[in-house]
Amino acid sequence: MVKFFSAALFLVSLVGTTLSQTSVATVESDISNISSQVTALNNAISRFTRTDLLGALNIHNDAVALVSTLNDATADVNGVPTPVAESDGQTILSDVQAFEPTIISALNNLVIKKPEFEAVPLAGILDLIRSDLNDLNAATSGFEGALINSAPADLVDDANAIKAAIDVAFANAIAAYATN
Ligand SMILES: *[C@@H]1O[C@H](CO)[C@@H](O)[C@H](O)[C@H]1NC(C)=O
Repeated sequence: MVKFFSAALFLVSLVGTTLSQTSVATVESDISNISSQVTALNNAISRFTRTDLLGALNIHNDAVALVSTLNDATADVNGVPTPVAESDGQTILSDVQAFEPTIISALNNLVIKKPEFEAVPLAGILDLIRSDLNDLNAATSGFEGALINSAPADLVDDANAIKAAIDVAFANAIAAYATN
């Protein structure tokens, strides 16, 4: 019995190890998904007006979906043996740089649209945005941290620069929604 259990445990840990390894191709697919979801979120925020209740709901749903994709991507990046090869690191970094302006734009648009959200006749809408913003910030930080950890040494500065730029936009948006 004991033998059986230790053999089973050994198998489980083997499977665990296999599952936790991810390929760079998976990470690139994650980033492509993040990128299209960031675009969807940015578009939903920029077309939002105070009478558009469905639009407000869509923004919330887009944010929740993006948090989930970011968390999956973080797990996948953490599963890639580090540091990633130079060429893979460069591809990953330029893919992230490609959507960096869009996430920053989404956050800036959220700040610009605050008067529209304030005018929505839906109690708790600002609390919802606040909580989505905090969740998105945490998920993005996790993803940025994983990217920085996995980057080849010569690309760490670039990875940190992306994080710094996105973090500023999050800090501004979070400050804008800190009070009702
Ligand atoms: C990216 O999104 C597609 C479509 O939803 C999905 O099939 C695919 O599994 C996603 N990629 C990753 C790495 O999760």
